[in-house]
Amino acid sequence: MNLNKFNWNELWRQQSAMQQDPFSLEMVKRRHASGSKSPMGLLDCTLLYALTRWRKPMVVVETGGFLGMSSAFILKALADEHLSTAKLHSIEWMEDCPHGSLIPDELKSGFVPMRGKVEDFIAKGALPKRVDMFLHDSSHRRAHMLMEYEYFWDRMSDGDVLVSHDVHLSSAFTEFITKTYKHDKIGQTDPDATTHHYWGRWGNLGFIVKKV
Ligand SMILES: C[S@@+](CC[C@H](N)C(=O)[O-])C[C@H]1O[C@@H](n2cnc3c(N)ncnc32)[C@H](O)[C@@H]1O
Repeated sequence: MNLNKFNWNELWRQQSAMQQDPFSLEMVKRRHASGSKSPMGLLDCTLLYALTRWRKPMVVVETGGFLGMSSAFILKALADEHLSTAKLHSIEWMEDCPHGSLIPDELKSGFVPMRGKVEDFIAKGALPKRVDMFLHDSSHRRAHMLMEYEYFWDRMSDGDVLVSHDVHLSSAFTEFITKTYKHDKIGQTDPDATTHHYWGRWGNLGFIVKKV
């Protein structure tokens, strides 16, 4: 896949425009009304929106779905790209959590809630075999983050994107990125052997686009 056209300005433009969009204002109101203190803020959500629109995934998995702030922005991006058959599989283990309750009704058709622990779904082989986009937002323990990154990365193809919230809460994201680099004998990055096209961090959100 040729991703030479990656354009940071375009990503930033779309994210900034979304911050002013009535949808974002409505979501902030909903979150406030729910009393939730979800740390997924507008900066993170709108970057997630811009990344989803850019990569146009058909199969998305997120861990730590909670009330659905991140879910709503992913689903809105899928709708704005007219990906009417795309699905968001959202995993949340807390029994008494109204999972996805912040998501506007008109965006719910692609929402697939999965109640349980990520590690149990993995052990049962109950997750999609191929994933075009993955968002980590469950436990932020280093070992758990690395486990999720590695599991879902193996199910992705060229051009797919792994996104992680709260990359500043452990060393996991930078460790994972480091493993995708290859260098030649004199220490220059070997772009053919390196297994990502791009990676970046903005606010608390990190992302990496896979290269095969
Ligand atoms: C920070 S919140 C997610 C916020 C959500 N993405 C949003 O935008 O509102 C983290 C969630 O991960 C869930 N969680 C933590 N560990 C988990 C696990 N192992 N499997 C599934 N869910 C988990 C918690 O119950 C919690 O609701």
